[in-house]
Amino acid sequence: MELSKIFENSIDEFEKRVLPQVYVSKGILLNEAFAICALANYVKCNVIIDSGTHFGRSAQIFAKYGFQLVYTLDRNLSERAFARLRNHNNICMIQGEDHDIIPNILKYHSGERVGLFLDSTKGRNACIFAKELKEQYPQLKMIALHDQCRQHLLKKYFPKSFCSDDEPFLSKYWYLNKRDIKVVKTITKYQPLLDDTFKGFVVGISI
Ligand SMILES: C[S@@+](CC[C@H](N)C(=O)[O-])C[C@H]1O[C@@H](n2cnc3c(N)ncnc32)[C@H](O)[C@@H]1O
Repeated sequence: MELSKIFENSIDEFEKRVLPQVYVSKGILLNEAFAICALANYVKCNVIIDSGTHFGRSAQIFAKYGFQLVYTLDRNLSERAFARLRNHNNICMIQGEDHDIIPNILKYHSGERVGLFLDSTKGRNACIFAKELKEQYPQLKMIALHDQCRQHLLKKYFPKSFCSDDEPFLSKYWYLNKRDIKVVKTITKYQPLLDDTFKGFVVGISI
């Protein structure tokens, strides 16, 4: 199926399950999260590895979207992440280094279909790590790399990857980021956090 069709078929379900969503600093953008959820779901991933928990935004989005099991890992798990994620019964939190933990999770789920969101190691190292994992673990059905601002690097390692700032995806689904809400002073007052100046982050996805 064409990518545009996959996204068209997925957007209503994403909005219904994930919104409303409160923005957290350094968190993934909603249009990026949508691309990951839609493509992981399309390739029938039941397990998601969210590498780089920080304050738990991406993990929470994947849990709300309804993946059966979401592992979220960070070298430094925070109290704030625990507080944010504790009500989700499909999340498993692990503290440690991505290079140590991810292969072990993949081995444990050898007969299943796993998606990886790599938001811990960045840049060229992330591409190399992701490519090694892809070659070694056939259960890995989707890989999403965050902050690959230099697309030529991403395309070198994953020539057929999709990028979340590719047109027409960017224009069509950017509105999701304006639906994001930021708590200002009191929890009753919300305002859109992001404006167009935030464009330029990229999630590259290889399936
Ligand atoms: C940009 S934040 C993740 C944001 C999160 N995915 C979200 O959308 O809310 C990156 C996180 O990765 C963690 N990190 C960086 N390198 C790591 C590594 N090699 N192994 C494990 N965690 C790492 C950092 O501690 C940081 O909390």
